[in-house]
Amino acid sequence: MTGLGKWWGRKPLILIRTTILGLLMPASEDPEKDREIFLRILTMDDEGMLIRKDKNISLKELYKNATLKQRTKYFAADSTEENHALRKALSPEQKEQLQKEVFLNMGYDERFKYCLRPEQIDGPSPEAWIEINSHLGTRAHSINQLIEQLGVQQFGHKPRVGDAFCGGGSIPFEAARMGCDVYGTDLNPVAALLTWASIHLVGGGKEIQEQIKKAQQEVFDAVDKQIIEWGIEHNEKDWRADAYLYCVEAKSPSSDYWVPLAPSWIISEKYRVCAKLEPDLENKRYHIRIITGADVATYKKAEIGTMQDSEMVCPEKGDRFPISTLRGDRRANGETIYGLRQWKNEDLVPRPDDVFQERLYCIRYVETRTNKQGIEETFRHFIEPDINDLQREQKVLDLLKARFHEWQSKGYIPSSIIPPGEKTEEPKRTRGWTFWHHLFNPRQLLMLGLWGSKIISEYRDTISSIGLLLSIGSAIDRQARLCGLDSHISKGPGSTRNVFFNQALNTQNIYGTRALHNLRDFLVFDFKNSPSIENRNHTVYPADARSTNVNNDLWITDPPYADAINYHELGDYFLAWYEKKLPELFPDWYAESKAALAVKGNDQRFRESMVDCYSNFTRNMPDNGAQVVMFTHQDSSVWADLALILWASGLQVTAAWTIQTETGSALKVGNYVQGTVIMILRKQQSEDIAFLSDIQSDVEFEVKEHLKEMIEIDDKEDPNFTDTDYQLAAYAAALRVLTSYKLIEDIDVQYELTKERRPGDKSEIEKIIDSAVAVACDYLVPAGFEPGIWRMLSPEERFYIKGLEIHSHGEYRNGVFQELARGFGIREYGQFLKSGKANETRLMTATEFAAKGLHDDGFGKTLLRNILFAIKETRKEDSPQTGRNWLYNELPDYWNAKQRIIHLLQYITKTTSHIDDWIEDAQAAKLLTGYIENDHV
Ligand SMILES: C[S@@+](CC[C@H](N)C(=O)[O-])C[C@H]1O[C@@H](n2cnc3c(N)ncnc32)[C@H](O)[C@@H]1O
Repeated sequence: MTGLGKWWGRKPLILIRTTILGLLMPASEDPEKDREIFLRILTMDDEGMLIRKDKNISLKELYKNATLKQRTKYFAADSTEENHALRKALSPEQKEQLQKEVFLNMGYDERFKYCLRPEQIDGPSPEAWIEINSHLGTRAHSINQLIEQLGVQQFGHKPRVGDAFCGGGSIPFEAARMGCDVYGTDLNPVAALLTWASIHLVGGGKEIQEQIKKAQQEVFDAVDKQIIEWGIEHNEKDWRADAYLYCVEAKSPSSDYWVPLAPSWIISEKYRVCAKLEPDLENKRYHIRIITGADVATYKKAEIGTMQDSEMVCPEKGDRFPISTLRGDRRANGETIYGLRQWKNEDLVPRPDDVFQERLYCIRYVETRTNKQGIEETFRHFIEPDINDLQREQKVLDLLKARFHEWQSKGYIPSSIIPPGEKTEEPKRTRGWTFWHHLFNPRQLLMLGLWGSKIISEYRDTISSIGLLLSIGSAIDRQARLCGLDSHISKGPGSTRNVFFNQALNTQNIYGTRALHNLRDFLVFDFKNSPSIENRNHTVYPADARSTNVNNDLWITDPPYADAINYHELGDYFLAWYEKKLPELFPDWYAESKAALAVKGNDQRFRESMVDCYSNFTRNMPDNGAQVVMFTHQDSSVWADLALILWASGLQVTAAWTIQTETGSALKVGNYVQGTVIMILRKQQSEDIAFLSDIQSDVEFEVKEHLKEMIEIDDKEDPNFTDTDYQLAAYAAALRVLTSYKLIEDIDVQYELTKERRPGDKSEIEKIIDSAVAVACDYLVPAGFEPGIWRMLSPEERFYIKGLEIHSHGEYRNGVFQELARGFGIREYGQFLKSGKANETRLMTATEFAAKGLHDDGFGKTLLRNILFAIKETRKEDSPQTGRNWLYNELPDYWNAKQRIIHLLQYITKTTSHIDDWIEDAQAAKLLTGYIENDHV
């Protein structure tokens, strides 16, 4: 689906699959059996995972994970950790058996490395279906049949799933794939197009996919032929370019030279290609020499660019000039006035008197030679453009100019202006670009416009035309003036980064343009592994969520809540290329981004629009229907707000789960794990009215009951629930009680929704949630910790103790600590960390903490903080007496606290003694424990 085009915040499909199944599966009297069946259906049980296993475990891993018995049975007698071999004469069946046995020794995460995803296989085995059917009273042999039958049981028909914030389409797509009837809308037509395409193209089956690929390949060939005819990518030696690198130039106020601007002149680390600046006295500019296989000195010099910390750095003297000064930005009447000339529609390249010029400085050519064996070999060359190359650039510009107006009027290239916005101002301010097409250089516009010209004129069938239009969407994330060079990527052959490497429209000082063949993967789709969606009953179109009037049994939505992405602004980048074609292909759709209707922010207007949307879904849902709202895990104020919104929309919270979604993006540095909350809601149908004072004890009771239930059903050997789950269960329990009433006398919902919030303000709902979390915290006693002492600790002390426990399990992911802090209601947890880097996050040890924040309010005054300092003192002086004296002098009642001190010290010693960074501190803690144990009045 991601190949169809960029959308932000896509939800993982497996998350949707589990959600839909969870909503449709009836709960029996036996929750453990329910869970077992749930996992069987998802092929996440042992048998299912064996079906999904498609990779062999290496010999090394086999040995490492085998039990003693398995080692004896399958490995040569003299095998060791370092040197091992299988026993001679093991039959293929025995080897297979070993693979299976060791695979089953592994935990889920480890097994996962050797498996296909659940959606990639046909589903459970025939034997599993017998068990599933007998538990659920169904007669299914496939997921689609099961979903239909569960829908009939619950609603009397195939379940109908709606998502009115469908974005990239994960929810409608997965629901359709599972066999549900589907209704998907999004305010943004680009999102609607992606969702429509995910179901019709990705899920469209082989025939449709062949049709699209054929059309894309034909257009690719036609564009290729034209480019060859024009001779704009080949040089005199018949080498063909595959990338062009451009840089921005500006005049140095001190030397009057045009200085090319780049943060670094390294082009390819792998091939040691870099650029070297040489003054061109005659033209008062610099030659940019391209050097392949650079020597150490040249390479080192190239690492230092002419653009550092938003300043121009002149090559000779090192004079520095802020870019904003060069631009001439100024402030007047409290507003910034952009200094750059704002480009006109006809501007395709900078005018000679513009502050910033653009310059082609390197071409990567590919030479193809046939060797003696008759085999074609390719060689890459990084070349400084010569006069002929520059003439080709001019030809590209001339060809484009000759077609520009016609292409704009026909919609082959964008013609609209960039609307105002938070992210859309940057191109105007930093380059003067005012129209969307300014974000593309002539070579890019010529190639993509040529592609656009082939869409309607040659392919009349809608499906092919949509496929061809999406090619452009997919390509322009990789082909724009915004595609910078990435220092990591430049480890390879100097490739470019995609436009939306982040959620902004950042202009670049150096950028790359791909030649046609280098863009093929994005223009011609690869539908490998695409499933065919059997159920064709689905409706997708652009619409405001408030205007939806279609009934759905289940509404599953992932609203733009607390995600701070400007969907409508970023979406316009794509819409600019679609806006004239979309109405031809989808005559019933609108083709504007409708920015004014976008749900965004977190103010009063946002809350009101959310209530409008969710009341609307609730009206369009049967009494026995359900809703799921997904959002990222935040602190209790965000929860309180959302609870209020949903309650005001006539919904009642019935459960909440957090799912840790891994993110691989370099952007999310420090946050590789992100908690997505899945909140389950039903129609609020009670007539009961309550007072806040009544609710408090109900909440406490509900939290305790719920946690008890979770602890009971959790697997003691291989726990399913994490601390965050328990904390979250407390949030949910509080909301469940609260939203179960029609009205709470002391809460004025309308007032709460509309009132201005000041930082630090706590609403009544937030206070209830906080108290529920406090109850849960009393429950979340770390293994081996005395519950009575645990209850006496502050949230910060608990966070630290829990953090040590997490650390002792080898956990270094930032997101895990972040979630934990949220659960304890701690906003500033950076004070506890030695490193907050992704996958290197850990708490400070006692010694690292030293005297930081000691005596400060909060953690600084706690017993645990003093104990950490005493450990540090003990280690430093190599004397437990120093540590003990510190505690004796600092604590108001040392003797009374003695047992707690000993317990905390013992816990620290036990938990940390095997952690590398802790070894010496743990020894000091042990020494101090012994000393205090023998300390008497
Ligand atoms: C978090 S995204 C959904 C992502 C989606 N679940 C996925 O997996 O790709 C939220 C979506 O809400 C849409 N949106 C914002 N305001 C809207 C409104 N008033 N009506 C409908 N959709 C809206 C945005 O365009 C965005 O696509």
